[in-house]
Amino acid sequence: MCGIVGGTSNRNILPILIEGLRRLEYRGYDSAGVAYKTNGKISLVKNAGRVDDLAAKLNLKTNKSNIGIAHTRWATHGVPSEKNAHPHNSKNNIYVVHNGIIENHSALKEMLKKEGFKFSSQTDTEVIAHLIQLYTEKGKDLDSAVISTIAKLKGAYALGVLDKNNPDTLIGVRQQSPLVIGEGFEEKFIASDIMALSNITNKFKFMDDGQIAILEKDQITVTSSSGVAARLKTQEVDSNAYTNDLKGYSHFMEKEIFEQSDVIKDSLEGRLTKNESQEGIFGVGFEKEMKNISNIQIIACGTSFHAGRIFEFWSHKFLGINCRVDYGSEYQYQEPIKTDKTLLITISQSGETADTLSSLKFAKKSGDPVTLTICNVANSSLCRESDYALLTKAGPEIGVASTKAFVTQLACLNLLLLTLMRVHNKLPAARKKITAALKDLPKLINKTLKMTGEYKQVAKLLFKRNSALFLGRGLYFPIAREGALKLKEISYIHAEAYPGGELKHGPLALIDKNMPVIALAPDNEHLAKITSNIEEVAARKGKVITIGPLGRTKIDKNGGHIKIPKTLDLLNPIVSVVPLQLIAYYTAVFKGTDVDKPRNLAKSVTVE
Ligand code: F6R
Repeated sequence: MCGIVGGTSNRNILPILIEGLRRLEYRGYDSAGVAYKTNGKISLVKNAGRVDDLAAKLNLKTNKSNIGIAHTRWATHGVPSEKNAHPHNSKNNIYVVHNGIIENHSALKEMLKKEGFKFSSQTDTEVIAHLIQLYTEKGKDLDSAVISTIAKLKGAYALGVLDKNNPDTLIGVRQQSPLVIGEGFEEKFIASDIMALSNITNKFKFMDDGQIAILEKDQITVTSSSGVAARLKTQEVDSNAYTNDLKGYSHFMEKEIFEQSDVIKDSLEGRLTKNESQEGIFGVGFEKEMKNISNIQIIACGTSFHAGRIFEFWSHKFLGINCRVDYGSEYQYQEPIKTDKTLLITISQSGETADTLSSLKFAKKSGDPVTLTICNVANSSLCRESDYALLTKAGPEIGVASTKAFVTQLACLNLLLLTLMRVHNKLPAARKKITAALKDLPKLINKTLKMTGEYKQVAKLLFKRNSALFLGRGLYFPIAREGALKLKEISYIHAEAYPGGELKHGPLALIDKNMPVIALAPDNEHLAKITSNIEEVAARKGKVITIGPLGRTKIDKNGGHIKIPKTLDLLNPIVSVVPLQLIAYYTAVFKGTDVDKPRNLAKSVTVE
């Protein structure tokens, strides 16, 4: 949510900042801005709208600079507008870009007004610029002014700071919002994530919460929030993985859906033996700790929450271990109940989701769980806050709607299931079967990806509708929810998911000839009942599309059936989600929405 990029270099920094913003645009895209210094003067260019509009306004051919900060915004305080776009400045001296929320900004604003500061935006960010200015006016140097400012701030924030009177210095601050430092030869950068800078460096330092980085072209000084020097080691990352090349696809979401067979392979690579999960894949000591586990708590949001709900079924059926799944945003509202040893799992693509992160911290404070994160981003906040981490290895996910992250989360949760089954000595024959089926999964996903003609036919039935209903039972209900989430977020068609049995308890009232219903029809004990639910819809002239491993594929203007490859029932949800992703994708394409950047949304939700 919001992207920051800044840098100081011997070369012209402006094209780097603009390209960095383009690469960060998936984090927020309602407005953008840049502040850069030339001949001791700071210029500010801001724009409501996309980075390309900002680039046009900036005129990259004539303008040049060696130091600057830039920002792409996802509005929290104040409408998307040029005034509210970052950077914000105080008295044309101090310029600030900010990701996060300053919770006590109202009180600070009142205090600053009394000091004579004038506010020109509705944002919470502007107080930061004025506070730094206030402290410099009181005689503090820039570093100390930043330290005094952050002592006053409550909330989560990453900052980039530029000062007219310190022509060669750029400051970065991290406090519960991500910020990395990129290193080049005689040039240094800050950014919200690696993606922004991966075309110019593969060397990064990962800041910790509460740290301040003072960047000059040829030196980086990192201190704690009280000014004590800190050392951060430089890590080399595979920057090839962070490409923003569409590779011939029309959208990142499409590319990412079609990568799913390969990324599942990557996430299983080296983690399975012939019949089992490989020992030690969750880190040293994990399996020993798991022997005493008698309770599982999962915390996640959105798509990652749906992955957690599927694991809940697996845990009850194959482990006999009670598993509860909560939204990151809701977990803290339940009084914690003391239980026997708990495994607390967070699931997250970004590893930075504020709701999930704050619930993890809350859980650690209020109990003594063993914490594990299933996460796609190494060095992310969730990885650092957890005792153990298993990386999903989906590669960077740029489309705002999560797809390949989801299937790799499920593959990794299956590795966890196999590991806990082994540690708890459960069902050796089933372990062997699951392992074999898991290895086979990429092949089945590939087959499912080939049926684009059928998905487009279904999308044609959907794209002019106002609503759609998704039905599933048991472990296919979270998949129905995931299908509805995908459709609503990228096509803006109102979509809801219900357990099949709930239909007659209310939503049946919605059914008429204009209501398409997509039902998951698995080859398991729920088939008869979901078939009855489908009959109930058909009897009321609803258009039904079923998806499942039985029957024959046939779609016409009244609906029909899509036959998907069959695997073990516990893994079939992973195959079933692929048609739903592609149906949502093609529906959005037919509607002409901005698939990769749906309105009002942003990837990596770093505010609560
Ligand atoms: C939906 C989607 C969101 C995320 C949610 C959690 O397509 O992308 O619902 O799943 O914001 O994000 P992570 O997984 O990064 O914690």
